[in-house]
Amino acid sequence: MTPCLGLNIDHIATLRQARGINAPDPVQAAKTALTLGVDYIVLHIRRDRRHVQEHDLQRLCAINRKIVHLEMANTKEMCEMALKYAPGSVCIVPEYPNELTTSGGLKIDAKTENSLRALTGKLKRAGIKVSLFIDAKPDDVRKAKKIGADIVELCTKDYSEAKNASLRAKLLEELSMCSILAKELGIRVHSGHGLNLENAADVAAIDGMECLNIGFSIIARAVFTGLPHAILEMREAMK
Ligand code: PXP
Repeated sequence: MTPCLGLNIDHIATLRQARGINAPDPVQAAKTALTLGVDYIVLHIRRDRRHVQEHDLQRLCAINRKIVHLEMANTKEMCEMALKYAPGSVCIVPEYPNELTTSGGLKIDAKTENSLRALTGKLKRAGIKVSLFIDAKPDDVRKAKKIGADIVELCTKDYSEAKNASLRAKLLEELSMCSILAKELGIRVHSGHGLNLENAADVAAIDGMECLNIGFSIIARAVFTGLPHAILEMREAMK
């Protein structure tokens, strides 16, 4: 079955922030995307607020909280914000100052494991599904299970940046193995980061893959083709 598509709208907000006015409006883009069958709207509220803002989350949750997938760091501020608006799901991601984009999956050691478990518990008790963004390592899938995550989002950064076909095939196999393991452990599987028209199909075809979260490549294509076309083209590529 073709996985769901989560459209990440961060970079529509990047464009808006460049001028400090209200256009282009990422929430308007989300509404358009939903009419075209996009399943989830994904947004990352960063500590530096470089793109998406709290009011975007508020407006999206007012439309339909269930389709909102909030990416956030494991901080007190973000935990409070998630509890305030209660999006349908949250993906906990690592966040470092000055990074251009998320640089990989969570590094889960004994200390972070405890704080991730505490955050996951709080969010789940508020009716929010919790996803952990992890690298495609079986150990991290097992740790996600221990932490109590509902979902793992397997990071496709290395896969999408692979320099040759054999490395790409090896990384695809690792994603596939982690998907099988997660399913065995009763965890749902998403993937994302760096996916585009050329590389999304193989990830979409992984057994058990339920959702691809894609932002940059769709928004970049939309500059030339328009957002509706860029979305439909990606849906077609994922089949
Ligand atoms: N999933 C996660 C957890 C991310 O941090 C990002 C980047 O914000 C994406 C998916 C989407 O990546 P891209 O914009 O490269 O499609």
